[in-house]
Amino acid sequence: ARALVLNGPNLNLLGTREPDVYGAQTLDDVAALCRKTGEELGLDVDFRQSNHEGVLIDWIQEAGTAQASGELIGAVFNPGAYTHTSVALQDAIKGVGLRVIELHISNVHTREAFRHRSFISPVAAGIVVGFGTQGYALALRGLRDLAER
Ligand code: DQA
Repeated sequence: ARALVLNGPNLNLLGTREPDVYGAQTLDDVAALCRKTGEELGLDVDFRQSNHEGVLIDWIQEAGTAQASGELIGAVFNPGAYTHTSVALQDAIKGVGLRVIELHISNVHTREAFRHRSFISPVAAGIVVGFGTQGYALALRGLRDLAER
């Protein structure tokens, strides 16, 4: 089975972007961690990043079709700043019934007030927040467990 790992805007800058907040690991390091975790779980990890809201929406819609056919178990999704702004991403997830684990590298609740609201949480099956990039491994395990329930 396949698991999608989706990353939104500015996550291509991981490693150099605010390392005190997001750590030293690059997005390539995170992709490698996800693939290794996928091997342990028997999952093919499909790892993607886009800075564009519409591209993320297209990928979510395609993932809904793949999940419905049983080929995909769902997605780990770090929506970046779109977390706090995007009704369209919420609608896409809800519209196709995609199983999503929302993930944030930082603990958004200890940060600015505008990061405390998430448009994704109401349509997420689970949420992983504040574990650094290691959270991606936790989220993949959680996704697999929820999909097997
Ligand atoms: C983030 C938190 C968001 O508030 C921020 O806009 C990001 C990254 C995180 O992984 O901690 O881009 O999703």
